[in-house]
Amino acid sequence: MKVQVCIIGGGPSGLLLSQLLHIQGVKTIVLEKRSRDYVLSRIRAGVLEHGFARLMREAKCGERMDREGEVHEGVFISRNGQLNRIDLHKYSDGNSVLVYGQTEVTRDLYDAHDRDGGAIVHNAEDVTLHDLKSDAPFVTYRSGDETIRVDCDYVIGADGFHGVSRPSIPKDTLKEYERVYPFGWLGVLSRTKPVSPELIYCKHERGFALCSLRSQVLSRYYLQVPLEDRVEDWSDEAFWEELKRRLPAQTASELVTGPSIEKSIAPLRSFVAEPMRYGRLFLAGDAAHIVPPTGARGLNSAGSDVYYLYHALVAHYKKADDAGLDLYSERALARVWKAQRFSWWLTTLLHTFPDDTPYLKRLKETELDYLFSSDKALGSLAENYVGLPY
Ligand code: APR
Ligand code: PHB
Repeated sequence: MKVQVCIIGGGPSGLLLSQLLHIQGVKTIVLEKRSRDYVLSRIRAGVLEHGFARLMREAKCGERMDREGEVHEGVFISRNGQLNRIDLHKYSDGNSVLVYGQTEVTRDLYDAHDRDGGAIVHNAEDVTLHDLKSDAPFVTYRSGDETIRVDCDYVIGADGFHGVSRPSIPKDTLKEYERVYPFGWLGVLSRTKPVSPELIYCKHERGFALCSLRSQVLSRYYLQVPLEDRVEDWSDEAFWEELKRRLPAQTASELVTGPSIEKSIAPLRSFVAEPMRYGRLFLAGDAAHIVPPTGARGLNSAGSDVYYLYHALVAHYKKADDAGLDLYSERALARVWKAQRFSWWLTTLLHTFPDDTPYLKRLKETELDYLFSSDKALGSLAENYVGLPY
C-alpha cells in the first residue's frame, strides 16, 4: 500500500497528528503494535496546556474535552503545613489549564478516527523502518503470518520511549541526554471526591505528594516512594495514612479515602534524543523525550511536536514548502528543552533527594520563599505551567 505519511504508534502523539493530517486530506496510516483496548487501558496524567486543547479542537476532537474537562485557573503548593495558591490566570495573562485525563484524550482521538475514517492498524507486529535516507522510505509490519509493506513519503516515529523508531537512527548520529531520579511515584486512582478543587503539589520532609483529579468523583493521588518499593508493599490503608502525613492538617482532615481502582509505581526520568529527524523519519512525543511527571509536561511536549509536524507536512503537500520540515528538529527541541527545564526544576524543588545536604534543603526553602514573594517568579512558573507559546 502507499500513503503519504506512515505514523508508528497509536498513542496520543500518533493519533493527534494523523487526525489533523487526515482532516487536511493528507493520506496517513497509523501502525500500533497493541490492541485498542490495551492502549485505552493506560492511566496517564491529566493536565492539558491551552495550546494542546486548541489542537484537539482543531482536530475536531474537542467537544467532550470542553464539556467534561475542568478549567483550572490555579494550583497549590503546600509546605510546612501551609497551602499556597498560585493564581495561574493572573500570572499567565489570563491563561489556564484543562484537567482532562490522557486516557480520555486518546479515546476521543480514536472516536474521531472512527467517525472520519482515519486508517489505524492494531496489533501491527515487527514494525520495521526501511530506506529512511532515501526519497522512497517504506515500513513493513507483520499481521499474523503476512508481512505487509507500506510505501510512504515520510515516517513519523510516535511509538514512545520503548518504540522502534529512535533505535532506527544510527547510534553515531543520535545524541541522548538522560537524568534518572532516585525515587518513583506511587499513584492511586479512587472513586472518591477530590480533596481539593485544584491540584496540590506537596513538598514534605517525608517526600513529595500530589493531589489531582479526573472529575469530581474520581481522584488521582501520588506519593514519592523509594525506587526499591513495589506496589504490593503498599496497602490502600498505608497509602492513605502516608498521604495524610504529607498534607497540611486541615487538608488531611478533609481527605475522602476509598478503595484504589488502580495502583502503580512509575520511575522518573528526564530524557531527550537529538536530532528529532533522520532523513525521512521524524520523531514525536515520548519517542524523542521524557519528563518526570511533576510538571505535567509529557503529553503537552508531544503536543508541540505534533503542532510543528502538522504545519510542516501540510505546507509540504499544499505549498511545496519544506521550510517547516527542515526546521522541525531545531524548533521542536527548543520547546522540548524548556519543558525539560521546568520539569527538572519543579521535581528538584519539591522532592527529597538522598544527597540533599542541609545547605541544599535551605536553598530549596529559599527558592519557595522567593517564588511566593515575587510576581515575576510566579509569572515564570505560571507561563510554563499553562504552556509556553508554540
Ligand atoms: N510498533 C508499533 N507501535 C508501537 C511500537 C512498535 N514497535 N512500540 C510502541 N508502540 C506504540 C505503543 O503501544 C503506544 O501505544 O506506540 C504508542 C506510543 O504511545 P505513548 O507511549 O503514549 O507515547 P506518545 O503517543 O508520544 O504520548 C506521550 O504518553 O506516555 C505518556 O507521559 C507520556 O503523556 C505522555 C504521552
Ligand atoms: C495527574 O492527574 O495524573 C497529574 C497531574 C499533574 C501532574 C502529574 C500528574 O503534574
